[in-house]
Amino acid sequence: MSISQNLLSSDNNSELDFDRLVDTLNRLYGDRDPVRIEHLELTASFSERLSGHFGDVLDQADRYKLRYASMGHDLLKGKFLSDSSQAEVTLNNVVVPVDLNRYVRLNLPTLEPFQLDDYFNTDIQLHALAAGIYLIMEFGITDTRILYPIFFHSCPILSVYEQLDDTTRLMVDLVTLADKLSSNHIKRKQSRPVPLNLELSVFGESNNEFNFTQGLLLARLLGQGRSTEKHSREMSEHYYQRLVSLNPFLGKLGGCPTIDMLREVK
Ligand SMILES: [Fe+2]
Ligand SMILES: [Fe+2]
Repeated sequence: MSISQNLLSSDNNSELDFDRLVDTLNRLYGDRDPVRIEHLELTASFSERLSGHFGDVLDQADRYKLRYASMGHDLLKGKFLSDSSQAEVTLNNVVVPVDLNRYVRLNLPTLEPFQLDDYFNTDIQLHALAAGIYLIMEFGITDTRILYPIFFHSCPILSVYEQLDDTTRLMVDLVTLADKLSSNHIKRKQSRPVPLNLELSVFGESNNEFNFTQGLLLARLLGQGRSTEKHSREMSEHYYQRLVSLNPFLGKLGGCPTIDMLREVK
């Protein structure tokens, strides 16, 4: 079964109200969790930097969508949200679900056109599904080039990812990598232990290199962590094989590496 192009499309005249998204994020996180805003802004800035290497693939409309997806990907991830025992809360006049398990479960039909209604209990993560559902229901977003990067930023589902057009797949990859570049940067800035310096892996010592496929695998392994969930392993294997196709020596490693192989660095 393929994703219905009639129901879902990437159009170039989407009515993206970027200001409304930013206003909502500020209302939710501005005072309570400024690091969340920093993470989202940094994700947007990394995805813009990465996308500069794909100028012939992404047009201006796609770049705008990329920025939107980067800013919106963790819309419903605040710790203060998950600390509440309510099903939803109102913060600065914004009503948001906090019981994300319930929210996603009740809205599984919304995920059906995206072929994601069967992946409720996987590493795709509730906050990613919930953010996409929220943007569809409350913001009227329908554009697949915004929604798939958000749904898939923590773990794409390979069978669905493979059906996406090249540009949408690239945008999933860009947000996946930018998200991890951002969180890795912030953790290092806070002197928290991290398994690797992802910026160094992607941009090199000179800050002028561009090791995209390598970065993608590392970002995926960071996302997978110690999970052995089937779809998570499948997606890591996919990114590993892409890197092996560029560097056949890595194919001699004896399989996809795991996070435990990475030493802790500050
Ligand atoms: Fe996330
Ligand atoms: Fe994130």
